Amino acid sequence: MKKDDFIIKEFIDDAFDLKSHLMEFLSIEEGDLDGFLENAKVDLANLHPGGSLSKAEDFYKEIVGDKHLADLAAWHISSKDYIADTLKLQQRFSKNLVLDFGGGIGTHALANAMSTKVEHVFFVDINQTNRDFVKYRAQKLGVSNKLTFCKTIQESKISRFDTIVCLDVLEHLADPAFQIDTFHKIMDPNSIGLFNWYFYKGENNEYPFHVDDEQIIEQFFKTLQSKFVEVFHPILITTRSYKKI
Ligand SMILES: C[S@@+](CC[C@H](N)C(=O)[O-])C[C@H]1O[C@@H](n2cnc3c(N)ncnc32)[C@H](O)[C@@H]1O
Repeated sequence: MKKDDFIIKEFIDDAFDLKSHLMEFLSIEEGDLDGFLENAKVDLANLHPGGSLSKAEDFYKEIVGDKHLADLAAWHISSKDYIADTLKLQQRFSKNLVLDFGGGIGTHALANAMSTKVEHVFFVDINQTNRDFVKYRAQKLGVSNKLTFCKTIQESKISRFDTIVCLDVLEHLADPAFQIDTFHKIMDPNSIGLFNWYFYKGENNEYPFHVDDEQIIEQFFKTLQSKFVEVFHPILITTRSYKKI
């Protein structure tokens, strides 16, 4: 089996040992883990104060605690085919220096660190618990030497990335247009950005923390369309791949 196929198989098998990492890191008994994961989505939505976008950053920095780990873990386990497709997509494009912006529980950063085409991965996440958890997972999986953990892109001290992965993050930011403009500045003409977005709060406000303001979304698309050109890929998912213009 090729190394890339093996990485996908390892993710499909047990999401890179995610459940045992969660139990050890959060000191949860096996019998309590399923309940913790089952309630995760509702627990996270209930934590949101509602309304104000000025809270967008505080929500992930201060409020979510370990509830966000549980929410992301439940999602990666229950939607493993979809997540596996996003891993296949990054295998097509990832090379050399990779930025994973808003890396969450680390699935994509860890898979990239396992890839022989990738020299180093910079995992950037505003949430300290996420950074600590993924650092712990990287040690367990033996890829610590290929990962650096930062709270912001500036902290990485890298001015050019070959690959930027930003999955399911843009809808969480107060100004997603500013964010992709920032990505544009740290890409060179051969770099690839992998981006997706979901500017929707859900049928029943399941995602109160998602931005859905029309003007913010329009500004996002204007910036995207003026600064990036899409690079075709054949995988049937919403994530798109881009070069800078
Ligand atoms: C829905 S999760 C997506 C995680 C991961 N990319 C995935 O696909 O599973 C959004 C992530 O973005 C992070 N985040 C939110 N605002 C951020 C910011 N301003 N800078 C860096 N990370 C941020 C959150 O802490 C969270 O881990």
